Amino acid sequence: MNNASSLSSSPHASSTPSDPIHMVDLGGLHARLRPELDRAVDEVLRESAFIRGKHVDVFEAKLTRALHLNGHVVGCGNGTDALALALRALGIGPGDEVIVPDFSFIASAEVVAEVGATPVFADIDPATFQLDPASAKRARTSRTKAVMVVHLFGQCADMDALVPWAEEHGLHLVEDNAQSLGASWCGDRVSGPAGMLGAVGTTSFFPSKNLGALGDGGAVLTRDSGLAARVRRIGNHGAERKYHHLEVGVNSRLDGLQAAFLNVKLDHWPDLVARRQAAASRYDALLADVAFTNVIPPARDPHSTHLFHQYCVLLPHGTDRNALQSQLQEAGIPTAVYYPTPLSSQPAFEGTARVAPGGTDVAHDVAGRILALPMHTELTADMQQRAVGELFRLLPPA
Ligand SMILES: Cc1ncc(COP(=O)(O)O)c(C=O)c1O
Repeated sequence: MNNASSLSSSPHASSTPSDPIHMVDLGGLHARLRPELDRAVDEVLRESAFIRGKHVDVFEAKLTRALHLNGHVVGCGNGTDALALALRALGIGPGDEVIVPDFSFIASAEVVAEVGATPVFADIDPATFQLDPASAKRARTSRTKAVMVVHLFGQCADMDALVPWAEEHGLHLVEDNAQSLGASWCGDRVSGPAGMLGAVGTTSFFPSKNLGALGDGGAVLTRDSGLAARVRRIGNHGAERKYHHLEVGVNSRLDGLQAAFLNVKLDHWPDLVARRQAAASRYDALLADVAFTNVIPPARDPHSTHLFHQYCVLLPHGTDRNALQSQLQEAGIPTAVYYPTPLSSQPAFEGTARVAPGGTDVAHDVAGRILALPMHTELTADMQQRAVGELFRLLPPA
């Protein structure tokens, strides 16, 4: 028994939406925080603290404390730069291989090529969509220098399997934590905050991220003070003091203004997290009601907290996803696909990357069937009922 029929005939299921539903509602969030954000602009303007400076220092310390990061946070220009800085600081370059999950945002692999190394794509777990340790193990060769774990959609990859394995083989474990900042892993062998479990972690403050700036921003996270200093130096033109350049670096710094905005958002962090988690639980309950349509809700790894950067379901095999998305859009329900194409199939890597022995069939299957439902801090129960109601109405019964 389930409530599917009551859901489909509920006043919200196919009625004209009262409030528009957004995939991400930064406008709504920023309207609520507007007085504090305005004050942040005033302060930065008054102090002309535009590049690094007080607000960046405060933010780096505040983030470390608020998220119990237990290490160093080095702000930089964006999450892609953070990854590139991390790889450079670890000394990864031409001739090296880096294992990367085949199912991620392009940046995870792009930076490997950017430093001159070769991405080797490994498959993902069919339930959690995270890097599959068995495939990562098959991908390792004598040239493998690092394994990049992407903590996808708001929860951690299987760190109990990956951390000891990387240590055993002397591989640098790089955590791309752009989507799961604030999540933590509590396993039998490993525990701690995402981004601080391996050699080095990174994150992104892209506006739609769980902790988003009002522009670009990123950070490198590490327990290693030497590595933190190296990252800071590379991101500051290779200099530790003005006009004295120890190595060829780049310009990748977190703006004072962005840090000031991030400080405002950090004050609201517990509420921002709770809102996403509550929305995810409501989706879980709604989808359980309509389970016979074979839509698979996102799996939660019991060893990880989940901050739901995205709420992605798997559609039944054979669903015309494009048509479904168009029909949902017509009904006022936006959706998105993260990610429609595995990285190994991107033209950008043609002839320059490898795929793990055994292939990446799961990544291909998931890329063809995944669908992200609206997920943000302003989502209401009514909006979610409308979204799931329309999904149920448009999908044929199993
Ligand atoms: C998994 C992942 N890695 C890296 C990035 C790159 O971050 P940014 O857009 O700040 O460069 C993103 C964000 O878009 C991401 O989702």
